[in-house]
Amino acid sequence: MKPSYELLQLSDTHMFASRSEVREGVATYSCFVRTLDDAMRNTDPDVILLTGDIAEDYSREAYEAIRELLEPLGRPVYCLPGNHDHLGRMVEVLSDEPFHFLESLRLGPWLLPMLSTWDGDRGGGRLGEDELKRLAEELETTDADHALVCLHHCPIDVGSLWLDAVGLDDGHDLLMLAQRFPRVRAILCGHIHQELDSVVHGVRLLASPSTCYQFKPGSKRFTLDEMPPGYRSLHLFPDGHIESSVSRVKD
Ligand SMILES: [Fe+2]
Repeated sequence: MKPSYELLQLSDTHMFASRSEVREGVATYSCFVRTLDDAMRNTDPDVILLTGDIAEDYSREAYEAIRELLEPLGRPVYCLPGNHDHLGRMVEVLSDEPFHFLESLRLGPWLLPMLSTWDGDRGGGRLGEDELKRLAEELETTDADHALVCLHHCPIDVGSLWLDAVGLDDGHDLLMLAQRFPRVRAILCGHIHQELDSVVHGVRLLASPSTCYQFKPGSKRFTLDEMPPGYRSLHLFPDGHIESSVSRVKD
């Protein structure tokens, strides 16, 4: 058994069809290229996780840009949708090797269920009964010792009024479900464009910065943070513990 499995989480890339498009003062394509370059110089992931909001403008070209940049790296890429994504185009472009769309990942004693919180482009998200049931069944029947549950929306309010208004409707249900299964070691999400590592109802919750623009924590109204773009690396150990850190990419 490997001493640990290394994951690289890239989230909220917000790509456009045009590679020069700027959103919130950031050219999202070139910012992603810079972030990815930094990540691949400083990590050696077994698997890359893309936790949603891959496209900003629902374009096929946005997904093709991601494919073009990640395919040559030779790592499996597990992805799930965010509220900004176009499900049909994402499936069309990011389902064939090395990409896996909404497929659970097994890494030795670890299971990583990949969940969809997509509920239209309304901003907020919802797992719904079917997705919660699917997760419960997977956690009940797996022979994996440990689980890291991955999704786009954050299951708790983070103290930003505007961001909490577009949160996960049934986040509490997810936390209650996770609490029932001691093998759930953590929940990993994106969406909030900021770093979080805390324990909620006994479950560790990790959220990560965007590869482009960041949201200022604790803001009543939409406010950007001047923090640089970033990514998260995670090491999953056979005894169930997770070591994880966020790296920021300076100019
Ligand atoms: Fe986002």
